This record gives sequence, C-alpha cells and structure tokens, in this order.
Amino acid sequence: PVAPLIDGHNRTVKDLRISITDRCNFRCSYCMPEEGMTWLERPELLSFEEIERVVKVLVQRYDFESVRLTGGEPTVRAQLPLLVEKLSQIKRPSGKQLDISLTTNGATLRLMARELKAAGLTRINISLDTLSRERFIDLTKRDQLTNVLSGVEAAAGAGLVPLKINTVVMRGVNDDELVDLVAFAKQHGATPRFIEFMPLDGDETWDLDMVVPAREIIDKITSVYPAHLVSSGSDPARRFIFDDQSGEFGVIASVTMPFCDACDRMRLTADGKLRNCLFAIEEQDLRGLLRSGASDDEIARVVEHSAKSKWAGHQIGNVNFIRPKRSMSQIGG
Ligand code: GTP
Ligand code: 5AD
Ligand code: SF4
Repeated sequence: PVAPLIDGHNRTVKDLRISITDRCNFRCSYCMPEEGMTWLERPELLSFEEIERVVKVLVQRYDFESVRLTGGEPTVRAQLPLLVEKLSQIKRPSGKQLDISLTTNGATLRLMARELKAAGLTRINISLDTLSRERFIDLTKRDQLTNVLSGVEAAAGAGLVPLKINTVVMRGVNDDELVDLVAFAKQHGATPRFIEFMPLDGDETWDLDMVVPAREIIDKITSVYPAHLVSSGSDPARRFIFDDQSGEFGVIASVTMPFCDACDRMRLTADGKLRNCLFAIEEQDLRGLLRSGASDDEIARVVEHSAKSKWAGHQIGNVNFIRPKRSMSQIGG
C-alpha cells in the first residue's frame, strides 16, 4: 500500500537529499576549512546499491517525488552517471517520473553534463558566488572560475533545465555583485538564487553580521530588475518573477525568513545516516541496518520514526540554537 509520509507537524515528506561524498575539490570559506576535513574512508560510504535500496523504499512506499545528489562535491565521486542511471530506473507508484537533480560547484561539468543528462539526470543547481577571478580564488581557494563558467554553459547546452545558480551572499564579500549575477544568469537562461549565509561553515566563524538579510537582497535586485513575489510551494526559495516576464530569481532566507513550515525533505549523509533536518542533532543509522540484512519494513520503520520526530523548525538566531556537529559538506546542504 502506498501512503504519503507525514511528519509530526502534518507536513508531507517527499524529497530526499543524498550526500554521496564528503570530499570536495573546492574550499569555499562558508563551507569547509582550507585544510579540508577528516574524510570518510571508502567502506564508510554507502555503496550505489545501498543508496538505490533506500531510494526504492522511499519511492515505492511513500511515492517520494524527488531526489537530489549533493556532497561535498558530488561530481568527485567515481562513476556518478552510473548512480544517476540506477536511480532513474526507479518507478514511482503514481507513474510520474522521479525528479533527479544535482547540486554542484560546476568545475567539471563541461566534461560531464551530457553524460549526466543521458543517464537520466533532470536538472542541475550550480554554485557561483562571484564573477571576479580574484574573489573566486579568495572564496574557494581554487583558480577555477573559467571552468565553472564553462560548466554553466555545458549544463544549459545539455538541456539540464531549469538551471539554477546558487549564490551564498556574504556581507562585504560579494554583496555588491548581486545585480551582475542576475544579469549573468539571465544571459544563460538560468534562475539566480541568493542564499543567506547559514551557521554551518567548517571554520565556525559564522556571525549574524555577515548575513545579508533577504529584504536587502530583494531591494537591491528589484531596484534594477522590478519583480513580484509568487507562491513558492515547498521550494525553499522565495520566488520573484521579473515584471518584464524575462524569468525569475529566488531568495533562500533560512535565517531571516525560515521556510520550515513548508519543508518536505529528509537527508541521507554519505555515511548512511538519516537526518530529518539540515540542523538536526539526532540521526538514524541506516547503514548499520542495511548492512545487517534488514528488511524493507525495518528500514521503513526507521524512516517513519525519523519523520515523526522532525521538529517544527530550526532556531537559528535564538539562544536555543544548537549548531549540529557536522558542517555543511558533511550533511550535503
Ligand atoms: P531546488 O529543488 O532546485 O529548489 O533545490 P534546493 O534549493 O532545495 O537545493 P540546493 O542544493 O540548490 O540548495 C540551495 C540552498 O538551500 C543551500 O544553501 C541549501 O543548504 C539550502 N537548503 C536546502 N534545503 C534546505 C532546508 O531544508 N533547510 C534550509 N535551511 N536550507 C536548505
Ligand atoms: N550557508 C548557506 N549556504 C551554503 N552552502 C554551502 N555552505 C553554506 C552556508 N554556510 C550552499 C552552497 C551550495 C549548497 C549546497 O549549499 O553554495 O549551493
Ligand atoms: Fe565544496 Fe560545495 Fe562546500 Fe564549496 S560549498 S567547499 S563547492 S562542498
């Protein structure tokens, strides 16, 4: 019997974000320390077969609509297209197509975009925080801007649409480039999205003063490109359609306007832990279950427990806020 997965606050959980590696070829300051992290060893990672098994349970029992592959940087995991191909063969009970997307820094997309599309990937979100080479090097510690820009072209060229460009906005770092980034995205038929900096950076230097509030982001952009708010459903981005109908932009305001009320997601870390929130403190160990020969029913029970214990929302900015032990690259964003 297929029934939606309802959490403890009457929200339907229907989207799974799967981190497939904690490693990354960049060192974005808002995510990972320059020296890197202690990486998971290969046997600690869920295998493609184990990932496929979890997705099958979620899709076949609860008719999950979408899965998103994240990292670290998902393209550094060997044979990524093979995983996409396996997932794209999973059939939803409703008969609708499972949406399979990828969040990437774009550095190697010029080499992989077509292959990923052919394997069944639906769409891509690419991170791009600046159009200046110097700033890019400062922010990511890598001289890769040209490759990322080619990656954007390759993704658009391969028909991986709608293509979204994610910019984490940081005070005094890139908050003077918002309009330029909108122009760049428009040129490539992509949707630019601006993200409030969240307290999940590897260095733990996050400070509220570094967050540029959504209100300010929206004002800066709409003063040049007038736009109006439209309904966003369970999309974490507040969506704004340009008045001249030339597309849209989004703002992901996790800090100043949390969207927890509409949250429809669950997360699986690269080492097989189930998390009911980006900021969850508790995790469920699916890897142990998978490797001890658990049945689908047993897996489903843990999934349902995780959904039922999901909280109403995170507490960023409150005294009650507890930073999760894992940082962004170990959760998958
Ligand atoms: P779409 O399905 O295309 O809307 O993707 P997405 O925006 O959900 O995913 P993406 O990986 O592009 O993430 C963009 C930003 O949203 C990142 O900074 C994520 O960390 C953040 N994000 C994604 N899901 C959540 C969430 O459940 N809570 C919070 N606070 N932030 C999230
Ligand atoms: N705050 C907000 N967004 C972040 N990302 C990485 N670290 C942070 C952070 N501390 C974004 C990346 C990418 C997505 C997976 O998460 O830019 O677009
Ligand atoms: Fe790598 Fe993405 Fe983290 Fe940047 S945000 S260091 S690209 S995992």
